[in-house]
Amino acid sequence: MDLLRFDGRVAVITGAGGGLGKEYALLLAARGAKVVVNDLGSARDGVGKSNFADTVVKEIRDKGGVAVADYNSVVNGEKIIKTAIDNFGRIDILINNAGILRDKSFLKLSEQDWDLVHAVHLKGAYKTTHAAWEYFRKQNYGRIIMTSSNAGIYGNFGQTNYSAAKLGLVGFCYALALEGAKYNIKVNTIVPTAASRLTEDILPPDMFQAMKPDLIAPVVAYMSHESFDGTGHVIDSTLGYASKVHFVKSVGTPLKKKPSDPVTIESVKDFWPKVVDMNGAKHIDKIAEVSMDLADRLQVFENRAKLDGDRYTYWKDY
Ligand code: NAI
Repeated sequence: MDLLRFDGRVAVITGAGGGLGKEYALLLAARGAKVVVNDLGSARDGVGKSNFADTVVKEIRDKGGVAVADYNSVVNGEKIIKTAIDNFGRIDILINNAGILRDKSFLKLSEQDWDLVHAVHLKGAYKTTHAAWEYFRKQNYGRIIMTSSNAGIYGNFGQTNYSAAKLGLVGFCYALALEGAKYNIKVNTIVPTAASRLTEDILPPDMFQAMKPDLIAPVVAYMSHESFDGTGHVIDSTLGYASKVHFVKSVGTPLKKKPSDPVTIESVKDFWPKVVDMNGAKHIDKIAEVSMDLADRLQVFENRAKLDGDRYTYWKDY
């Protein structure tokens, strides 16, 4: 198979001074992309600044690649996109990767811990993406990667702020994928699990050794390539595996025994086991399917009501 290359493409990678972002930057640059290595250089909790983006830029240049460093915070995302335009005249790929942690159990979580985590993960991704969007729209081309987390998808103790922001990025991705569809702008999400300073005290040591961030970089790079046609995907990746994550909806149940019955708190209680029974759960890919599902149910309701009147049999195979 021909190598998938990125010649002529310009990529902005936020938080690329270390961890996962660094691996994305090294791989894209090795395959011909010009890279903006953004990193504020803060500590894990978002405090402080340093220029460790320089080390990554040097590594790329030493290998013959093209890269510039950018030290802006993603909170000022428009400045990061400007760095790409000023240096390379365009932007094709945006990888929203920068992140911080301010883990606390909810009672101890301050408003500042909540706001700062949202500012970096969610608002930061909004700021860079919004600034890049006008270029993507004009050139009818763009590849965007959001970075979510299992903590967002499933919840994690002590990470209410982080979990909320990370699932917010999934909603952002789903909605933006729809808006980008007719302009060849693909918006996808990576859910990584890898050894980095964010996970060094969370993952057991042997797992930490094995979960190399460079195993995730090819997945992100593929989703950033011009040949990649998917959009609105949420892809979990670790240890050289990748899988798609998706919401499913239970088949559900009417909340009454026959159409003429009222829906009451007690009837909800009676039917609850069926409400949460995930056997045969459905994949819903598009919001239109939710409306269609509703329309189908109404149709069934009307037809059956005509055939069976008000009888219990109507509900049996609803
Ligand atoms: P990391 O701490 O090595 O990388 C994050 C980078 O973002 C740091 O270099 C940091 O300086 C930079 N950064 C922080 N605030 C910034 C700001 N305001 N503007 C620009 N840069 C900023 O951590 P890691 O693990 O590489 O994380 C990368 C992304 O992956 C994060 O969004 C994280 O939440 C996410 N993630 C990582 C997981 C893992 O297992 N490592 C699990 C799930 C999600």
